[in-house]
Amino acid sequence: MSENNTPRILVLNGPNLNLLGTREPEIYGHETLSDVEELCRAAAGKSGYEIEFLQSNHEGVLIDAIHAARGAVAGIVFNPGAFTHTSVALADAISGVQLPVIEVHISNVHRREAFRHHSYISPVAASIIVGAGVNGYVLGVQQLIHLAGK
Ligand code: DQA
Repeated sequence: MSENNTPRILVLNGPNLNLLGTREPEIYGHETLSDVEELCRAAAGKSGYEIEFLQSNHEGVLIDAIHAARGAVAGIVFNPGAFTHTSVALADAISGVQLPVIEVHISNVHRREAFRHHSYISPVAASIIVGAGVNGYVLGVQQLIHLAGK
């Protein structure tokens, strides 16, 4: 909960997602990270939620953001980028804060290289959304709101 009691959701993006819109558009599309932020704010606003939005290329910054989210947000919509396939530390951070996390991948990682098929995050995620493009973030926000209402 924020100071004004408006429920909040953290939308967290990992490495290289700041390049969204110009990075391999045939895989990730033409929308930018600011477009994603707007989509998330609009989806959350419909149910009276606010969005905290953060992108970092640094694993430790993402870990700190997950720790700081405890007690402050209803849950996290998280695209960990390539850290998905490498980071035990991010998985441990998620387990440590006991918050629902919706893992989002813009692309269908299962249709891509074999090294993208394994996720350290999936076993600690509440839900997983892959291959829905940037609409996956909207679905993630909606899913967290759904879970919070249970
Ligand atoms: C990604 C998929 C990852 O494999 C990749 O490293 C990314 C983006 C996605 O959104 O499809 O950076 O998480």
